[in-house]
Amino acid sequence: MALSQKLLDAMNEQVKHELYSAYLYLSMSAYCESVNLPGFAHWLRVQVQEEMQHGMKFYDFINERGGRVVLQAIDRPPTAFESPLDIFEKTLEHERKVTDLIHGLYALAVEEKDYASQVFLQWFVTEQVEEENSATQILETLRRIGDQGHALLVLDRELARRGAVGGQSDGPGE
Ligand code: FEO
Repeated sequence: MALSQKLLDAMNEQVKHELYSAYLYLSMSAYCESVNLPGFAHWLRVQVQEEMQHGMKFYDFINERGGRVVLQAIDRPPTAFESPLDIFEKTLEHERKVTDLIHGLYALAVEEKDYASQVFLQWFVTEQVEEENSATQILETLRRIGDQGHALLVLDRELARRGAVGGQSDGPGE
């Protein structure tokens, strides 16, 4: 069964949203490099890889279902950030938006009685629980320790341990 035009369009849009997420986190990572927080920069860079993989999962699925991938323009991400706290507030906010988008896609797949898409999207429903959870954990830690001082450097060192995508999950927020 081919993807309906509606689902195809929405999935092509989602490729864009996932690649925008990668772009957003790369911009955040660049900020962290600039303020000498290499652990935060690393954690975000691993997140960039994850988002690229999310985008490619949609890309592959569209192709497997005989649809045509049509790439969209990706918005310029914000480049000015105030602090790591600001970054993780924005990360959580962004992930909540992505969760809504995934839920919208799932609802559409149900409406269209596209069972293969529903199964495919279930992975993303679960993944979004994890995405929101890791952002929340780091955000809560930042709120507790404040945005500077020794504790921030300890957290930075801890975030540096996040394993690469596809590797061992040995860092916080995995
Ligand atoms: Fe692809 Fe962070 O959700």
